Amino acid sequence: ALISLRQLLDHAAEHGYGMPAYNANNMEQVHSIMEAAAAVDSPVIIQASAGARKYAGEPFLRHNIIAAIEQYPDIPVVLHQDHGSEPAVCLRSIQSGFSSVMMDGSLMPDMKTPASYDYNRDVTAKVSEIAHACGVSVEGELGCLGSLETGMAGEEDGSGAEGQLSHDQLLTDPDEAADFVKNTKCDALAIAIGTSHGAYKFTRPPTGDILAIQRVKEIHARIPDTHLVMHGSSSVPQEWLQIINKYGGDMGETYGVPVEEIQEGIKHGVRKVNIDTDLRMASTGAVRKFLAENPKEFDPRKFLKASTAAMKDLCQARYEAFGCAGMA
Ligand code: G3H
Ligand code: 13P
Ligand code: NA
Ligand code: ZN
Repeated sequence: ALISLRQLLDHAAEHGYGMPAYNANNMEQVHSIMEAAAAVDSPVIIQASAGARKYAGEPFLRHNIIAAIEQYPDIPVVLHQDHGSEPAVCLRSIQSGFSSVMMDGSLMPDMKTPASYDYNRDVTAKVSEIAHACGVSVEGELGCLGSLETGMAGEEDGSGAEGQLSHDQLLTDPDEAADFVKNTKCDALAIAIGTSHGAYKFTRPPTGDILAIQRVKEIHARIPDTHLVMHGSSSVPQEWLQIINKYGGDMGETYGVPVEEIQEGIKHGVRKVNIDTDLRMASTGAVRKFLAENPKEFDPRKFLKASTAAMKDLCQARYEAFGCAGMA
């Protein structure tokens, strides 16, 4: 059944678990997310980025998820629109049937220029008013995702601020967060704590100076009733990095957000954990390995099956680690 983000995260808060929110771009990703959830009896959040909607086409993406709901009637599913760049984007998603939208007013509509606090508050409040009238939940974002090591947003192709970010922009302020939630009435708040989108988050296994889980605790202490969201929370598994490189890939040394750090966040109000890169890496690693080991194969179903299985294992591991297994 399709449910709203608010319904799911209220349940998560009540029971002390966190939810991975997986980005999906194609049928195989939707399959893997659902197969894993069915295996461990977890609810599901599937989110569609602007890039995903451009890749698959919004109706193809949406119908994949509608198909998932039909095939798994016992699993609650949130259909979430990731990183809306302006209110109109969110309104179109509401109209097309999403049960949750993110208004990312931390950046201007170009998704590159950091926005002022007042702009962010006003666009997010506007989306909340309309979304709530339709029974749809809203995620806002305060602070800019980016590396505390370099001051850069990270991902070159995707969403993220352009240019150098200050320490203040890279860490969400607890008092500002309280004012933001009060004035926007958003259902969940994405915070900046040093993570960034993509595979290149940290040049070394992160410690507290570059991954500020402490800041999660400070924000949660200030707004204990707000569901917190961690973006850029792929763990960048070293095993998959090695497999990708062993079978012809060329990814550089890099580190992600350790699962134990996410678990620490979940103890302090984190309820939604955005994961995209990990599925991409598992998929690419599995496809590279399969094709290298089976050079005579030319049926795409064979290598896509390997991709789905790898992503399923990863999804299942996160459902178990975040405590949502058994919660469907
Ligand atoms: O927001 C970041 C997600 O990883 C989506 O990335 O825009 O390449 O689909 P994308
Ligand atoms: P990753 O790039 O760490 O998977 O983050 C995804 C994300 O935050 C989507 O909104
Ligand atoms: Na989101
Ligand atoms: Zn994100």
